[in-house]
Formats: sequence, structure tokens, C-alpha cells
Amino acid sequence: MADVKRRDFLGMALGGVAGVGAIAALVAMKKTWDPLPSVVSAGFTTVDVTGMQEGEIRDTQWRGKPVYIMKKKAGDSISPARDFQLGDSYYCIGIKICTHLGCIPNWKSNEEIFHCPCHGGQFTGDGVNIAGTPPPRPFDIPPFVIKGDTTLVLGESGVEYEAMLKASSNA
Ligand code: FES
Repeated sequence: MADVKRRDFLGMALGGVAGVGAIAALVAMKKTWDPLPSVVSAGFTTVDVTGMQEGEIRDTQWRGKPVYIMKKKAGDSISPARDFQLGDSYYCIGIKICTHLGCIPNWKSNEEIFHCPCHGGQFTGDGVNIAGTPPPRPFDIPPFVIKGDTTLVLGESGVEYEAMLKASSNA
């Protein structure tokens, strides 16, 4: 009788150890499958516009693409399809890839246009293609959300971004 009880105990103990081992193995496998925190957040780029001067362009990257942000000057025309307000100022933003064949245009501050070195494409500071040059449409705008008075996060679609998309589809 005592032998049977000992066997039962040993069976339960072994079963418990096997169960704990299986759970530990599952936790380890899940850790392996889960992306690292840095990868999860890799789709987002935070931009702080603190200290930007009127007319200044700041370059950044979002998902490997070149993105510019420009602070509009007082008196510049504001386009609901291309510009947004952050704090007391207006800004425009775009993915700086030519919509003709994908070259990277350069900002020519003396002319205040983006000039594409490949085939002479031109874009305004707002990222709108200039008629008579090869690009068929404006720069794409990355999805963004505004956080506070000085920060935007690229990769998340906020109300300002949605409003710009709506304005451009109505234009
Ligand atoms: S790729 Fe820019 S003009 Fe052709």
C-alpha cells in the first residue's frame, strides 16, 4: 500500500516537473518569435520641430525613405492639402522621392524649389510638381500624427493627416 502511494507521489512529481518544463519551453519559444521592441517601434519616426526657423527644412527618414519638413514663412499661402498647423506655425511635409522615376530631388534655397537631378523635375516647397516638368504628381505625404505643440510621429495616421488626404482628393 505504502509502495503504491510512493509510486503515485513520484508520478505526480514527475508530471509536475514535466509541466513546468513544458511551460518554460513555450515561454522561451514565444520570446524567440516575438519581434524585439526596437523592431516594433521601427515603423515610427518622431520629429521635434523645436527651434526651426521660418523657411527652414529639416530632413529625416521614415521606413528608409527620405522625408522633409519645412516651416512655412509668415505670409506664405497655406494649402489644406499640403500644409498643417503645429503649435502657432504651419509646416509642410513630404517624402522626398521624385514621382517621375524615383530620384531624390535637392532643395534649391535660392529658387525655393526642389530640383530633381535626373530629368529636371521640379516641385514647390509644398511638394507640388511644377507643370511642364516630368513628375506627374506631388510628393507623397507620410502618415503622421501630431503630439503636443512641437512633435509629430511619422507612421501613425492622425486627424491632420486625414484632413490633408481629404483635401487633396477634393482638389
Ligand atoms: S526621376 Fe525626377 S525628373 Fe525623372
